[in-house]
Amino acid sequence: MVDEDTTFQLRLDRYGPDLLSGLAGAYGEAAPQLFERLTSLMRSAFAARSTDLKVLDEARLLSPDWVQRPDAVGYVCYADRFAGSLAGVADRIDHLKSLGVSYLHLMPLLRPREGENDGGYAVADYRSVDPRLGSMDDLTALATTLRGQGISLVVDLVLNHVAREHEWAVRARAGEQKYRDYFHIFADRTEPDAYERTLPEIFPDFAPGSFTWDEEAQGWVWTTFNSYQWDLNWANPDVFAEFADLLLFLANNGVEVFRLDAIAFTWKVLGTDCQNEPQVHELTQALRAVLRIVAPACALKAEAIVGPQDLISYLGQGKHFGKVSDLAYHNSFMVQLWGALASRHTRLFEVALSNFPDKPSSTSWATYARCHDDIGWAVSDTDARGAYLEGHTHRAFLSEFYAGLYPGSFARGLVFQHNPINNDRRISGTMASLAGLEAALEHGDQGQLSDAIARVNLLHTAILGFGGVPLLYMGDEIGQLNDHSYLDEPEHAADNRWVHRPRMDWDAVAAADADPGTPGGRILAGLRHTIGVRKRLPQLHASIESRVLPSPDSRVLLLTRNHPEGVLIEAYNFSEDAVELPTYVLRSRLGDSAVEQISGYDYSLAPETLLIRPYQPLWLTAG
Ligand code: GLC
Repeated sequence: MVDEDTTFQLRLDRYGPDLLSGLAGAYGEAAPQLFERLTSLMRSAFAARSTDLKVLDEARLLSPDWVQRPDAVGYVCYADRFAGSLAGVADRIDHLKSLGVSYLHLMPLLRPREGENDGGYAVADYRSVDPRLGSMDDLTALATTLRGQGISLVVDLVLNHVAREHEWAVRARAGEQKYRDYFHIFADRTEPDAYERTLPEIFPDFAPGSFTWDEEAQGWVWTTFNSYQWDLNWANPDVFAEFADLLLFLANNGVEVFRLDAIAFTWKVLGTDCQNEPQVHELTQALRAVLRIVAPACALKAEAIVGPQDLISYLGQGKHFGKVSDLAYHNSFMVQLWGALASRHTRLFEVALSNFPDKPSSTSWATYARCHDDIGWAVSDTDARGAYLEGHTHRAFLSEFYAGLYPGSFARGLVFQHNPINNDRRISGTMASLAGLEAALEHGDQGQLSDAIARVNLLHTAILGFGGVPLLYMGDEIGQLNDHSYLDEPEHAADNRWVHRPRMDWDAVAAADADPGTPGGRILAGLRHTIGVRKRLPQLHASIESRVLPSPDSRVLLLTRNHPEGVLIEAYNFSEDAVELPTYVLRSRLGDSAVEQISGYDYSLAPETLLIRPYQPLWLTAG
């Protein structure tokens, strides 16, 4: 029997060095003192951790690949839009179970500022829950219920900024130097101007610039996002200590995965774009070590919507290998899915994936086709050139296509944040509306309808087939369309991302459940089936890389996953054409016959070609 003190000490021995080196990387000489402060904070948090959670810690230590396994399935929703409140979410677990969900990300639920709050990303108090959703006790109760059902609760930890109404900001405005030092506040424009020379625009439409004059604070406050979101000064060790404490508080209340919101922006360096600075990874390593010591059941997910070379560092490169986030969003994969659907061409997809660095084998991608945010066309000029495209023109094409302006487009998206300087146009819209369901229903055209449903199915299958945690976005499982009612809500009207944040239509879920012949029913039944197939395919473990196989047909993307138990080859037809795919590329890897795992069909690979239906995905193993 190992006593608790020994457990704590063993973990401190194991992860203390990671903690100290992360702190030293960020805070230099201030690190040892901060380490001591954190040690006493961790000791109290460990003592306060419930027995249930400690049991979970031990279980997770025995299965460290829990977010890598093929049975890991994520679901993302707003508690209020999904089920009214936190308590309501517990009543909808059956629906989540029917999709095999093991990971539930409830969108921001900590108490936000009143009025406009960027969908909850302007937090006024990290220790209480938005009263419209429930209380901290409700959150703990929900986490416990979910855990009992094998579902991990995922919550946002907004790191880069707090609401202007957060106590730290209030005290900073009241003149307390301690709290002014939590932020970046400048007396005049000298420094803001110097920084702005190299800072990109995040919300050029409704929040241009990165600094806001605050009369009460008598200074220019760093506000990367909206003017009411005050960027924190992470170079201040006190800010780190506050967040370590918050992390453990939430972990002890049952949160199992933390989505590290806007993490790329946390460290500022003059003359740079103030994203992805090396210190960001030092901080993450230190935060992770704190969690490993007190709450090793927990995992971190980086929300860094950045280019591939920068993104890979969030999963641990060089000295941070295995020491930072367990998960990161694969933004590039998402962008390429939509790009290939619009162009019916997969060359750029192949180039982008082939140029993508391998991730550490102990980590996972969070794969997704839609989320609560807009889609920005993160296609690099180099990748575009590799596919004989011109980056700027191609990005413009994608914006036109998904805004529904391009001739023949099936999409019904909205332009978000048009930047007149570089003509960047991001896109809002639900998966179904972007994939053509809205237009098909309007036209009453059965052929278009089948294509749209097949596109949704293709997108879902691709995110299930890439390895990692596929994130299903609320409403997409039944093909919910754009919802324009946000225009009637004053605090949402200016932000068209709300068009793809509809309230869950439970009548439509019931209808889809009752009749698998309706569009929603077809999407839901297909998705549930593919999830079931995924769970039993060892090749879909995230420790395996998906690799591009050069495709003999530009409409079809081919991926291979080489697992010791046998290879899995995935084929995705991104066009509305039936494609005769030459079989030699499959035969050399699978032999003369194959089993298509989704349909269960046996295919002979002896003939010269294999027919792939419009938008059909195939998951092939040796027959
Ligand atoms: C993340 C969120 C986004 C929010 C931003 C600022 O990118 O996903 O919705 O606007 O952070 O917190």
